[in-house]
Amino acid sequence: MIIAIDGPAASGKGTLAKRIAAHFGLAWLDTGLLYRAVARDVLAAGGDLEDVQAATAAAKSVNADSLDDSALRGPRAGDAASIVAKIPEVRAALLEYQRAFARQAGGAVLDGRDIGTVVCPDAPVKIFVTASDEARAMRRFLEHQSRGDSITYDELLADIRKRDARDRGRSAAPMHAADDAVHLDTTALDADQAFAAALRLIELASNKC
Ligand code: DC
Repeated sequence: MIIAIDGPAASGKGTLAKRIAAHFGLAWLDTGLLYRAVARDVLAAGGDLEDVQAATAAAKSVNADSLDDSALRGPRAGDAASIVAKIPEVRAALLEYQRAFARQAGGAVLDGRDIGTVVCPDAPVKIFVTASDEARAMRRFLEHQSRGDSITYDELLADIRKRDARDRGRSAAPMHAADDAVHLDTTALDADQAFAAALRLIELASNKC
């Protein structure tokens, strides 16, 4: 069983993927962490995020241990990740890691931007999670507020829009829903409602295969 969950930043796909994986006893890979780790390693070495050679070398050395890092979670790491994610060689270097993860015995849930389109195009279940720009910015704002960060709602909204445009507009594996993905709009849903809706979609998709 492979479940592919894609969608833009702060759409709720990560929370959803984690809960779905726990519910079905499947392994979970947040593929955004791979791109975040590549960006972190390029910057740590004093490199430039647009440098194809430096970013590709970093992508080739990413492994599970390098993903366990709370510094990868913030909005700056996400923006930096979106820059290295434009580089086709970086995407190619990360592809086999993701496919090997998906093939593991017992099945897996992967979430990202291109899981249903490129990484696991044969996944029997594909969900494309969306939410309005404003709802996504508000979610991020509340998360930051609860941690005492000073970033504003407007900054987060601008950041989300800039990142979406970059992720949708790149030529290598741009973010878009696979033709056979089901769409889940979480704008008006809380995490429990989104999870319940996803379970219904998975049930429907499983009955079709
Ligand atoms: O899901 P996230 O916000 O952690 O992802 C960070 C960036 O990594 C995202 O803006 C684009 C890139 N990414 C990608 O290009 N393909 C993926 N499968 C996952 C993430």
